[in-house]
Amino acid sequence: MEFFTPFNTYIDFDEFTFKPEGEVIYRNLSDMDYMYQDQKAAQKLLTEDPVIYEFYTADIPEKKGHLRPVMSIIYPGKVGKEYNMTKGHYHEKEDTAEVYLTISGQGKLLMQSPENDIEILEMEKGSAGYIPPYWAHRCINVGDEPLVFFGVYPGEAGHDYGIIEEKGMKKIIVEENGEVVIEDNPNY
Ligand code: F6R
Ligand code: ZN
Repeated sequence: MEFFTPFNTYIDFDEFTFKPEGEVIYRNLSDMDYMYQDQKAAQKLLTEDPVIYEFYTADIPEKKGHLRPVMSIIYPGKVGKEYNMTKGHYHEKEDTAEVYLTISGQGKLLMQSPENDIEILEMEKGSAGYIPPYWAHRCINVGDEPLVFFGVYPGEAGHDYGIIEEKGMKKIIVEENGEVVIEDNPNY
């Protein structure tokens, strides 16, 4: 492995800034509108095309031996009755884990194993959720403020969005009568 110099990344826990910024990725609704159940609601919202989430990564090689820190911000909101969420992915190199430390907000960490078992962890300030190797992971903002979390994953992990882009995950998280409800994904 090439020589690399130690450095700090600074996260502002009030302003949710991440410095120095490496790559910043914005996901607008138009990047993932097909992932929501209520297509009528999605198409209507597309005229505004809101940013659903954004994430900040440090400039660290995507190579074995490194660890990549990342801060994600999911904005509050819903598409139909389904809460704003990340696309979700498996790691391309499936035997790599990840940790998500929640900085602010209220969320669910939805995970799915290769056998399609589902596990859901609460995300709240101070929760450090462990995503074991092989599990797909998606975060859902079920609160009314930004859900902000810091993650660390192995440099070689990579991201596999394929299956989730095709049919989603087995469960969806929706609001029913003001409550957060976990439902079966009707398209699964
Ligand atoms: C990296 C990781 C997170 C997500 C980020 C955005 O392995 O899990 O950094 O990449 O929260 O979510 P996706 O990648 O699903 O769009
Ligand atoms: Zn990941």
